[in-house]
Parts: sequence; C-alpha cells; structure tokens
Amino acid sequence: MKILVIGKDGQLGKAFQKEFLSLFQGRLSEVDIRYIGRQDCDLADLGALEKILEDFQPKVVINAAAYTAVDKAEEEVELSFAINAALPGLLAKYAAVNGAYLLHYSTDYVFDGQGSIFYTEDHPVSPLGIYGKSKAEGERLILEAFSKIKSSQAHYAIFRTSWVYGDGANFIRTILRLAKDRPELKVIADQFGVPTSAQWLAELSSDFMFDLSPDSSIALRNFPSGIYHAVPAGETTWHGLACKAVDIAKVAGANLLLEAINIKPIPATEYPLPAPRPMNSRMSTQKLQKALEGLGVVSQFPQWDLLVRDYVSELTKNQLI
Ligand SMILES: NC(=O)c1ccc[n+]([C@@H]2O[C@H](COP(=O)([O-])OP(=O)(O)OC[C@H]3O[C@@H](n4cnc5c(N)ncnc54)[C@H](OP(=O)(O)O)[C@@H]3O)[C@@H](O)[C@H]2O)c1
Repeated sequence: MKILVIGKDGQLGKAFQKEFLSLFQGRLSEVDIRYIGRQDCDLADLGALEKILEDFQPKVVINAAAYTAVDKAEEEVELSFAINAALPGLLAKYAAVNGAYLLHYSTDYVFDGQGSIFYTEDHPVSPLGIYGKSKAEGERLILEAFSKIKSSQAHYAIFRTSWVYGDGANFIRTILRLAKDRPELKVIADQFGVPTSAQWLAELSSDFMFDLSPDSSIALRNFPSGIYHAVPAGETTWHGLACKAVDIAKVAGANLLLEAINIKPIPATEYPLPAPRPMNSRMSTQKLQKALEGLGVVSQFPQWDLLVRDYVSELTKNQLI
C-alpha cells in the first residue's frame, strides 16, 4: 500500500513518522511510505506536487502540511491560501478521481468563537482572520471535489483540531522556555479550548484509517467521509495550560524560576495580536467517537491534562526545555 505523508517536518508530520514506525513494525514489506518536506517540494508550487502524485500514485494521502503562522498570514494572504486551500483542493481532486483516501487537518479557527457552546461539525463556519479563512476554504474545496466525483473507493476525513503541541515550536515550549528565567508571566485566561497532542492525533488518525488485523494484510477502513472534531476530553484556557505545564515540569525536576502561582491571568484585550483569535474553541467530539465505535475501534478520549503531563515529563526527562 502506497502512503504519501505531506509536511513531514511539522509537529503532526513528525508524529506520523513516529506512529508509522511502531504501527507498521514487522509489516514494512506491505507499505511503501513516502514523506515529503520542504526540501522535496515547495508546496506553493502545485505543479511539483501534482508530478509527485502522478509518479507515486498513493492510495493514502495524509496532509500534515499547513501555513500555520496565524499572525503573518494577515500579510501573506496569497501564500496562506495557496498552502491551506489550493493544496488540499488539489489533493482532494487526486483522491476523488483516483479512488484514494485523504486525511486532512483543519482548525478551531474556522469558527468565530462567540458564546460558550461546544461547536459541532455542522455549525456554520465564520472565521475571523486570514488563517481561519484559508483553512475554511481548504475544507470547502475538499467537500466540493468529493461531491463532484463519486467513487466508492475514495474517502476523506477532515480532522478539525486545536492548540497542537508536539516536536516543534508551540505554546507549551514557549512558556517553559520563559519560565527558566522569568519570575512572573502574564497569560490570557479568557480564551477557552483544548490542547491537543500531535502524537495522540496521529495515533487516532491511524486507527481511523488502517485495519491491521493480525492474520490478513493491511486494509483501509470503510469510514464515513466527512468533517470530524478531533481533540482530547476536557477544556482549559491558555492560562490553565501554562500553569499545568509549569507545575508538571517542576515535579519532573526542571529547574524553573517561575512558580505557577506567579502566572497572572489577563484578558485577551491586554495582549493584542495582529490576527483575531476565537475566544471559544470548544468542539464536540461525539461524531468522531461514534464513527470510531462504528468501525469497532475502542475510543476513550483521554483528558487533555494527562497528555500534557506525558509530554512535559518527556521534555523534562530529555532536557528539551
Ligand atoms: N499548531 C496548532 O496549534 C494547530 C491548531 C489547530 C489546527 N492545526 C492544524 O493541524 C495541522 C498540523 O499542524 P502542525 O502544528 O503540525 O503545523 P506545523 O508544525 O506548522 O507544520 C506545518 C508543516 O507544513 C510545512 N509547510 C508549510 N508551507 C510549506 C511550503 N510552502 N512548502 C513545503 N512545506 C511547507 C512546514 O514546513 P516549514 O517548517 O519548513 O515551514 C511544516 O513542516 C495543520 O493542518 C494545522 O492547520 C494546528
């Protein structure tokens, strides 16, 4: 089975590399996995990617690439739409025409974050900034491509996720870096969401996609195509996440000047940024949990703070703070 992973050096891309090492262990002769990073192809050049698709003819395409610089996107509008919209649009056309599977990732930023509801997948999108608008357009183009060509072999899943952390730059690492030599910090406490481990997301995505019954060859699951919200259980604020990360790192032995009690909660209005952010990023995961149950996959979503504990403990142990 040919598998193409795009965006191999991002947080999610690296998580897939790690996940597939263990998932396909002992069955490597059954898969042909190609990982694409910036050095292989500038994704703004769709012609180059088209050639890779034509030559390799993957049965599974995983798009872990994205333009994720939320503030810079306000100025780099064209590039943001090229990577977040045109690229998934092209991948969807390929998958729909060739009877392939597409896994794509989107974001809580497709919503405006009004109120305190848990967004469901069918809630109308209303992005506030360019990043969210470009990701929403990417979703639309995937839906459009699959609505035009109905191949029973082609499937797609768009996983909307939020506050991703993994092997790369992210909020948790920034806080822990600052915590080494700052006695006090101010962190936003009125934006709500769910921190999501890239490793957990890669594992969940793989469970959704691959059926690895021990006595048969690797199969693809007949999952219902659509948009799914994919975040762990619970909710917090950036302030809650910062306090949790500092507490865990200290317990794990990190040498930090900052105590969680000295992280001051502030409203978002006190920390203005170029791009507007949703105040409420809560998303219901019921649809995904039901779909996983329907596929016979056990799906107890872990609490976000348990995953953060594992991540921060690992960073501390490996002296990566
Ligand atoms: N990070 C979050 O907090 C967050 C929240 C919600 C949803 N998401 C979604 O989750 C998915 C994974 O995010 P992530 O955190 O893993 O993102 P990430 O770490 O920023 O990785 C994105 C990857 O895409 C690559 N890329 C971007 N433009 C490229 C280009 N023109 N040519 C080649 N490669 C290019 C980047 O390469 P370079 O490193 O070389 O630029 C990077 O390796 C994305 O769909 C994102 O929208 C993320």
